[in-house]
Amino acid sequence: MNVITSPSRGAYRIVDHTYDVVVVGAGGAGLRAALGLGMAGLRAACVSKVFPTRSHTVAAQGGIGAALGNMGEDDWRWHMYDTVKGSDWLGDQDAIEYMCREAIPAVLELEHFGVPFSRTEDGRLYQRPFGGHQTHYGKAPAYRACAAADRTGHAILHTLYQQCLKHNVPFFVEYFALDLIMDDDGACRGVVAWCLEDGTIHRFRAALTILATGGYGRAWFSCTSAHTCTGDGNAMVLRAGLPIQDAEFVQFHPTGIYGAGCLITEGVRGEGGYLTNSEGERFMERYAPTAKDLASRDVVSRAMTIEIREGRGCGPHKDHVLLHLEHLGADLIHERLPGIAETAKIFAGVDVTREPIPVLPTVHYNMGGIPTNWRTEVITRGPDGDRIVPGLMAIGEAACVSVHGANRLGTNSLLDLVVFGRAAAQRAAELVKPGQSQPPLPPRAGERALDRLDRTRHASGGSTTGELRLAMQRTMQNHAAVFRNSASLAEGVEKMRGHWRSLEDLRVEDRSLIWNSDLVEALELENLMANAMVTMVSAEARHESRGAHAHEDYPERDDANWLKHTLAWCDETGTVRLDYRPVTLTPLTNEVQSFPPKARVY
Ligand code: FUM
Repeated sequence: MNVITSPSRGAYRIVDHTYDVVVVGAGGAGLRAALGLGMAGLRAACVSKVFPTRSHTVAAQGGIGAALGNMGEDDWRWHMYDTVKGSDWLGDQDAIEYMCREAIPAVLELEHFGVPFSRTEDGRLYQRPFGGHQTHYGKAPAYRACAAADRTGHAILHTLYQQCLKHNVPFFVEYFALDLIMDDDGACRGVVAWCLEDGTIHRFRAALTILATGGYGRAWFSCTSAHTCTGDGNAMVLRAGLPIQDAEFVQFHPTGIYGAGCLITEGVRGEGGYLTNSEGERFMERYAPTAKDLASRDVVSRAMTIEIREGRGCGPHKDHVLLHLEHLGADLIHERLPGIAETAKIFAGVDVTREPIPVLPTVHYNMGGIPTNWRTEVITRGPDGDRIVPGLMAIGEAACVSVHGANRLGTNSLLDLVVFGRAAAQRAAELVKPGQSQPPLPPRAGERALDRLDRTRHASGGSTTGELRLAMQRTMQNHAAVFRNSASLAEGVEKMRGHWRSLEDLRVEDRSLIWNSDLVEALELENLMANAMVTMVSAEARHESRGAHAHEDYPERDDANWLKHTLAWCDETGTVRLDYRPVTLTPLTNEVQSFPPKARVY
């Protein structure tokens, strides 16, 4: 163990490790990658700030999409078309082809790993309809979501963790990743993490670092995301001088419980549930005459918001709508939706066999993230175009592959985790040989991370983390909302600049390095702030409406000017620089045609 002591950095005990690969994050993507690395004989460590089975994947409910065709006709090409259309054509078609094709073996593999999927009468995997998933290129609802009742993420996460243990993957649990170790040549050489249990600092040297750190839903006031979803990996990437892609595209799930934000799965509508306004009208029939309540999420969330704005919201404040499933009957509810029956009882006081659930669109998913190619290698853009960042990969919600483009379809996030977690391990096995020698870490490796930790730890201003976070969350909630406009986005950018400056006034009460939640939350706030800043600036700059980015001053999609990905860099002063890169409209193979942009109707 080394000890670094300096006036600016205090005394820190440093522990060094060398692995072939280090995975940061132990949700579905991180665990699937770690498992694949273990199976390939690579020495791979998995570093996680929470115990793996507490990762946010555990909260995923309704299903994982794969065109198995167990309960009706299906084809992965239809799944691909639906995903391209759902993305409002911002998704990269090479990656989407890969995901939808590989969905079938990846899900069957999960079954063989032991995921306790729900079954049909004849023993096949049960599949339910979900929003935006259709057969024959948009003709009829597809039964495509493989589910373990309404606890699919829980089932997958526990199974993957057990498989990782079986393959002896070493876990570093409750280690908070601070920063990437970048070399002068631009390659990533590992990561620095703080062990919350004993206060030691760990430098993980690795030929490859895989970021699987999840999204940043906690930048908003009301979200379905766990408290841990603070965009740590994205912020590490920004601090390394690399960009985040398409941050302006933020998914609002239509059915968060009013007032509590807890997720009520879209699987409810897949099983026949529906929404009504204060007049008892099934209003989705007006907005999406064919798909109705199973239109894609951006469409349903906008429709709900319009109903409320136009005075047809429910309750004394006319500020939510109702989700009905009482007509489905207690037997079906208890067999297929037991978790939401319990959640609705606890968080809305509702017995779903008798009364509807009050719901509101709630922040659920970040379509944007760390840009990668379909092999999960991180890319950045310079004067000569795209280039791969050596030694760095990203997967899951932290990444922007981009398979979700401007709007993700339900069930495609669990799918993204397992397909690209698996792809990352496969690519790593091509790039790295077990035990291959690695150059020494660059001189001063990790010192910037320590300086930042030390600065935050000794912050002695007048505002608590909670106060600064709440102010930022309110700005994000009001200005990076379901509907945006130029004035509100400009005001949002100004307010975010103020929030960034207010970090100077942060106060951290507890300076210990052991189990210090005050310091963890302060570091998480810095991470959230970087994510929030690039989101707001990217949103202000995009002058069109596409998918989840509904801009009232530019209500149409504008393919001539905006069929492109946003890249956003953010420096230490909070100044954001934007650039753009083309969307890939060509598939990976000739097994499927390209789907050129056209009008998106449901
Ligand atoms: O509604 C849900 O069950 C959520 C699924 C998803 O976000 O993919």
